[in-house]
Amino acid sequence: MSQTASQGMQPGNLDVDSANADASLKRSLDLKAIYAPVSSHLASVEKILRAELVSETPFVDQLLEHSWLLGGKRIRPVFLLLSGACCGEIGEPHLKMAAALEMIHTATLVHDDILDEAKTRRHRATANSTWGNKVSVLLGDYLFTHAFHVASYSESAEALRMLAQASNRVCEGEMRQNASRADFTLSEEDYMRMVSEKTAELCDVGCRLGAFLSNASPELVEGFAAYGRDLGIAFQIIDDVLDVVGHTEKVGKTLGTDLVNQKPTLPVIHCLKHLKEPRKKEFLALLVDSGATTEKVIPFLEETNSLEYARSVAQGHAESASKFAKSLTPSAYAAALLKLSEFVLQRTH
Ligand code: IPE
Ligand code: IPE
Ligand code: MG
Ligand code: MG
Repeated sequence: MSQTASQGMQPGNLDVDSANADASLKRSLDLKAIYAPVSSHLASVEKILRAELVSETPFVDQLLEHSWLLGGKRIRPVFLLLSGACCGEIGEPHLKMAAALEMIHTATLVHDDILDEAKTRRHRATANSTWGNKVSVLLGDYLFTHAFHVASYSESAEALRMLAQASNRVCEGEMRQNASRADFTLSEEDYMRMVSEKTAELCDVGCRLGAFLSNASPELVEGFAAYGRDLGIAFQIIDDVLDVVGHTEKVGKTLGTDLVNQKPTLPVIHCLKHLKEPRKKEFLALLVDSGATTEKVIPFLEETNSLEYARSVAQGHAESASKFAKSLTPSAYAAALLKLSEFVLQRTH
């Protein structure tokens, strides 16, 4: 570890002009504006990623550059930074943990793209489509292990344990999902459990770590973690909706993969529950036929308002998260957490 670029950075100020409701809403959907209160800290996290993901071996270096260079939304490190800033000063441990969290998230994406045979991620060719599955497994492993190397510099065994436990649960969720492929008897309850593991764990732990590293009370740490979990669940449900109705150019990743890979997502589970025969049989036949496309599936989902239903479930979770954000001592950071709960519902990327 050679990187300590972030010391002494001060958080920026949020433009709190809320007089114009329209302009405010527009801003709330612009991630850069939402991230403004922690933009300098986020820049430090980027520097850590850039400094850590290098190798003397040119091929490995090329792979690592691909993994950090890919500009994701960085929403998980931002959860950590905003939660930490709500409870105290952001220091080096927060920055290290935020970088580690983004590395773990990127590792899960590299592996997930192998499982889903996805071609595009973060507007670029996936590692698996560029270098093949074998190299991509190793790249994901590298990112996972290096994340814990970086996280160890936060010098808190408890924080490290939180990160390790959450990462473990993400893997469990991905395994659970893999095992439920083509199982269209999956219940909504089982789906929610899977989503809570594979996606919400990292959002939960981001917020949890931020508050914990700022020495928040155990009750407040749990409050932040619940905020992260609710938004993580909403985030994945909206992701599943976008997989059907999103635009690849905007989202920047291969869409329609849930159908191709026969993943029972919330809109599909809801639709199957509410369709009457013979439409239900027709829909099932389409789903198990690997030629299921969004065009063919959308009419069924529309018959049962299943996309709207999925959005409403996501909305319920986002509302719980926004309730928590509103309960916090008012600050630019708390306002940003509130705006993130709107972004998660309205995102198109
Ligand atoms: C993608 O997460 C994986 C899901 C949990 C749906 P993001 O949408 O946060 O991915 P990036 O980091 O912005 O690429
Ligand atoms: C989320 O599932 C992936 C992880 C939590 C690792 P998806 O398969 O829906 O994610 P995307 O759509 O590929 O980003
Ligand atoms: Mg995927
Ligand atoms: Mg998806």
